[in-house]
Amino acid sequence: MKNIQQRIAELRRQINTANYHYYVLDNPTISDAEYDRLMRELQELEAHHPEFITPDSPTQRVGAQPLTGFGTVTHRIPLLSLDNAMNEGELLDFFQRIQKALPGETVEFVAEPKIDGLAVELVYENGIFTGGSTRGDGFTGEDISQNLKTIRAIPLTLRNADIPAPELLEVRGEVYMDRPDFEKLNEQQLAEGKPAFANPRNSAAGSLRQLDARITAKRPLKIWCYSLGSCTGISFETHYEFLQTLPKWGFRVNPLIKLCKTREELLEYYHYIESIRDSIAYDIDGVVFKVNSYAQQQALGVKSRSPRWAIAGKFKARQEVTRILDIEASVGRTGAITPVAHLKPVSLGGVTVANATLHNQDEIDRKDIRIGDWVIIQRAGDVIPQVVKVITERRTGSEQKYTIPDRCPVCGGHVVRPEGEAKHRCQNMNCPAQLKGRIRHFVSKRAMDIEGLGEKIIDQMVDSGLVKNVADIYFLKAEQIAALEHLAVKSAQNIIDAIEKSRNPTLAHLVHALGIPNVGEHMGKLLEQHFGTLEKLFEADFDELNQIEGVGPIVAQSIVDFFAEEKNRQTLQRLLEGGVRIQATSSPEKTTHPLAGKTFVFTGSLAQFTRDEAKETVEKLGAHAASSVSKNTDYVVIGESPGAKADKAHKLGVKILSESEFRKLIDS
Ligand code: IVH
Repeated sequence: MKNIQQRIAELRRQINTANYHYYVLDNPTISDAEYDRLMRELQELEAHHPEFITPDSPTQRVGAQPLTGFGTVTHRIPLLSLDNAMNEGELLDFFQRIQKALPGETVEFVAEPKIDGLAVELVYENGIFTGGSTRGDGFTGEDISQNLKTIRAIPLTLRNADIPAPELLEVRGEVYMDRPDFEKLNEQQLAEGKPAFANPRNSAAGSLRQLDARITAKRPLKIWCYSLGSCTGISFETHYEFLQTLPKWGFRVNPLIKLCKTREELLEYYHYIESIRDSIAYDIDGVVFKVNSYAQQQALGVKSRSPRWAIAGKFKARQEVTRILDIEASVGRTGAITPVAHLKPVSLGGVTVANATLHNQDEIDRKDIRIGDWVIIQRAGDVIPQVVKVITERRTGSEQKYTIPDRCPVCGGHVVRPEGEAKHRCQNMNCPAQLKGRIRHFVSKRAMDIEGLGEKIIDQMVDSGLVKNVADIYFLKAEQIAALEHLAVKSAQNIIDAIEKSRNPTLAHLVHALGIPNVGEHMGKLLEQHFGTLEKLFEADFDELNQIEGVGPIVAQSIVDFFAEEKNRQTLQRLLEGGVRIQATSSPEKTTHPLAGKTFVFTGSLAQFTRDEAKETVEKLGAHAASSVSKNTDYVVIGESPGAKADKAHKLGVKILSESEFRKLIDS
């Protein structure tokens, strides 16, 4: 037994050392085959002696069961953000402020690249990794321990070179993906029919926020560690000293980090890093300068969200000149139309750019963008490229103006620009660009409530041509459903039964299910109370709708536009032919959601919703989405990098929800 335990310990030591050399020092010492052999031997020994398995064993990096949601973690010390300096002048202002606050003192700075990834916190107790979290709103983040464990460059046990492990150590850093790895991953995603990620940052974020750590384990995530959180049992005088200790413990620290003593050195660093930006394997969006001495940091203090002792020197957005070959209207999942410019391909920051978003018609008109124009494009914050301006001097007279067509390029439905909105929209509820999403909504619990019609089956039904509009659902036969891949006759029959059960919806549920823009469940209820029957609603004109208490001109116009579309009228007709009949009266408890009347505010970027989708979701439950936090706000939902709204919510004591808590609330 003793021997086995010793062997296990020896294998773990060898594997950890191999990981350290490979991932941290970037200098492999053993072959992949040898590594696999050690790992297999350890796995076998642990399988026979599960009593010896410890959570920090290298075998425990993967294999956890998928979670249903992430827990929340309150950071012992908030994770602050950084003030930005947009140019040399603003950087000089920063140094001046520091000098003024520390008269007569010598101030050294640590200069670091600003990594464009995701901030995380790693917690070690007595040298053992005990958990890790996202930054969240800076005060609370999500518990992503399972996912972080899969990153081999994160030590599960601190290497104790010559420094004993502190009782508590919190290390902060940025999880990111190298650009070549990101491109390989995207190729793989596309080959598997999955959507590509927009940029390395998004793909790192998406990978870290997987509920199934086995997926995260397959993603090429890396980390650079750059700051200290709580710490007991050891102390450091300077940030640089801390950074030099990190690799000894087994953490990766960026080799471009430099200790600078003069302003000149700092400015030189800023320009140097910008000049090598494209030749670095990962995305950086600037540099970070931090006062080196912890005592001086303490003396300078922090503001509400950012320290006075540090600043981010941002780089100028990368710009390039190219030509617009064509403009195309692209139809999104919700029918919103975005004009996209097809460009003469051009390299921008190491990425080939062939398209740029033109946002909407107003943007095209304001910038007077024409097909054939030479333009300056840029990637700001490394998102989708945009057209900055037209180089009018290069016009030849052959350029053509562009207007979004009045017919949908995908389905030929009417394109309408709703009053007060920037985007044009395809009005056809059966437009193939929207159909899958529309059906998912149509069958959902708070709409027609057809149980068993999940995303995969819907995809198959649409892809096989079995369902071309929502009404086709009511003509399906069990054998047709069963003929779809992987479906047993019994589950097909269950679906038929569920469809049957949904044939008598309330008017509110049907109206909600139709997915008329701006018309959610709450509005459906109002319309039901006023009209009672589908026929009456169908015949209502703008004025009648507009006069209903709680229905404004925007909603009224939305409804009129919806019923004006011939294809939508045909679908309603077909629903009737399929046996759908409105219930004469509705049971109030079915249409009143517990969240009805509540006010939500969203801040930061959410992983599973766009802002509009989040808004629509709460509105469908009869709640409202407001743009600013007040004491009347019921919930503030915070995503990644939230704004000042999160602070305000803390101050006013408004209930704060993480994205997963929000999900649970709306699903409950
Ligand atoms: S230090 C006060 N160092 O930038 C300390 N942050 O805008 C703040 N970041 O949330 C963090 N590289 O996600 C620090 N070398 C670096 C960084 C860095 C990237 C990110 C980090 C932070 C954000 C602040």
